[in-house]
Amino acid sequence: MSDRLWWKHGVVYQIYPRSFMDGNGDGVGDLAGIRARLDHLAWLGVDAIWLSPIFPSPMADFGYDVSDYCDVDPVFGDLTEFDALLADAHARGIRVMLDWVPNHTSDQHPWFRESRASRTNPRRDWYVWRDPNPGGAPPNNWVAMFGGPAWQPDPATGQLYLRSFLKEQPDLNWRNPEVERAMHGVLRFWLERGVDGFRIDVIHRIAKDPAMRDNPPSERPGPGWGGQLHVHDENHADIHGFLRRIRALLDGYDERAAVGEIGLAPEQVATYLGRGDELHLAFNFAFLRQRWDAEAFGRELALFDAAVPAEGWPDLVFSNHDIPRHATRWDHPQLGEARARAAAVVLLAARGTPFLYFGEELGMRNGEVPPERRRDPLAWTLHPNASRDGERTPMHWSAAPGAGFTTGEPWLPLAADWRTRNVEAQRADRGSLLWLYRDLLALRRRTPALERGVFRPLPAPAGVLAWERRHGGSRALVAVNFADDERKPGFAAAAVRDGVWTRAGASLPGDAGQLALGPCEAAVLAVDG
Ligand code: NOJ
Repeated sequence: MSDRLWWKHGVVYQIYPRSFMDGNGDGVGDLAGIRARLDHLAWLGVDAIWLSPIFPSPMADFGYDVSDYCDVDPVFGDLTEFDALLADAHARGIRVMLDWVPNHTSDQHPWFRESRASRTNPRRDWYVWRDPNPGGAPPNNWVAMFGGPAWQPDPATGQLYLRSFLKEQPDLNWRNPEVERAMHGVLRFWLERGVDGFRIDVIHRIAKDPAMRDNPPSERPGPGWGGQLHVHDENHADIHGFLRRIRALLDGYDERAAVGEIGLAPEQVATYLGRGDELHLAFNFAFLRQRWDAEAFGRELALFDAAVPAEGWPDLVFSNHDIPRHATRWDHPQLGEARARAAAVVLLAARGTPFLYFGEELGMRNGEVPPERRRDPLAWTLHPNASRDGERTPMHWSAAPGAGFTTGEPWLPLAADWRTRNVEAQRADRGSLLWLYRDLLALRRRTPALERGVFRPLPAPAGVLAWERRHGGSRALVAVNFADDERKPGFAAAAVRDGVWTRAGASLPGDAGQLALGPCEAAVLAVDG
C-alpha cells in the first residue's frame, strides 16, 4: 500500500544498545552487534528500530548524558559503523530512529564546560544559572527527578545550575535562541545522514516557568519528587511552539517522524500531538502502571484513543529501559507465560503504533542484579530498589556461553533463564512466544483493520476485554481473557477468515461466535462483514 506510513502503520522495536549484541567481545553491546542481528529483526517483521543514545557520553546515565550530539561513542563504534548499520537496516526495509536528548547535556559537553567557566562566558546563558537566595538556599523548591534539589551549586562562579535529573545532566536553556538553533543543527546532521526519526527524551521539560515559581505541595507533601505538584518545572505552554518548529524541520524531509517521551497523564500527553503539527507520536505510558485487569486495560485503551486528536495517532508501550519488564510486572506462578502471550495481542491488535522493547518477544523477565553489580546511578542517588538494571540485562540469543550476546563478561549479569529462554530455542519451537509475535506482526501487516482501523470496545463478560477494529471492508475482532478460567467473549456470529490465537497449535474456530478462551488466552480474528 503506497500510503503505508512506517511510523503509523508499522511496529517499532527499541534497542538498548549496551544490551542487544556485543560485536567485539568487550561485554557491552555495540553497533556492529546490532548490524549482525538485523536479520532477526527482519525475520520478526518490525518496521523500525529505535536506538537508545549512542552518542559520546561519560555514561553517568548510560548515554542520556550526551557530551557530543554529532558522533558515536567509541564503546558503540563510530560514524562509519553507524552509516553501515543504517544502510543495512534500510536494505531490509527497517527504519532507524535515534534518541535525541534535548532537555540536558552531560556536564562534560563542551557547551557546559564553557558555560560554567565564568559568569561572562558567551555560553553562560545556554544553561539555566541563578544566584542562591540570601543565606545560600536554592532559588526555588524544585527537586531533581533522580534525587536532591534541582539546583546544583557551582562554587567556582558562586551560582547554581538547574538539573532536572543527575548533577551530571545540566538542563539546557531553550529560551536562548542560540540553543534552539544548535539543537536544530543536531537534528539536521542526522537527518542528512538518512536517519528516519527521533525518540525525544523528556520533551515536556524543555521549558519551565520563566518566573521560576515554587511548586505547590502534593497531597503527600515531602522532600522527594512525589512531594510536589509539578506545575512550574515542566509542561510549560511554550514547549508547543518549540515542537511546531521541530515538526516543520522534520517535514522538510521525506517521511521522518518523532515520538516524544512525556511523563504526564494521558490526556496531557495527547496535547503534544498538536493538530498534527507537533509530535507524530507521544508515548502512551498508561500500561506501565496498570495491573493485569481487563477493566483497567479497557479503560486505558479507550481513554488514549479518545484523547488523541483526529490528526494524531495513538501508540502503545508495555516495556522500556526505565521500568521492570512487563513479563515481570504481570507475572503469575502458573499463568505468567499465558499472560505474556495475551499481552502481545493487546499490544499488537489495539489501535496505535506498538513499541516493543528488545527481548519482550522472548518473554524476557527482569534479571536479578546483585548489589555489587548494579550500574544504574539511581541505585545510589535514589534507592537501591530504584535501579533500572534489571530491565537492561543482555539479550538472550542462544544457550552458548554469554547467551550469544558476548564472548566476554557481560556488563550486567544475564537473567536466570537465558539457557532455555533464547532466540535459538524459540525459533526452533513453532509454539513459542517469539513465533506468536511474528505471527501477530504478519497478521497486522496483511489486515488493514489492524494497521489502520478504528477502535470500538465491545461488550464482554467480566474478566474479558473485547474490541473491534474496522477499516473499509476489513474487520477484526479481538478478545483477551484476563481471568484464570475459561470464558466466552460472546461475539456475534461471523465467518473467520484469518487470525491468531495464543493457544499454540490450535486451529481457529470457523465462526467467531464459537470462540472460547482458556485462562489468559487471547485471539484476533479477521472476520467477514
Ligand atoms: C528518560 C530516559 O528514558 C531515562 O532513561 C533517562 O534516565 C532520563 N530520561 C533522563 O534523560
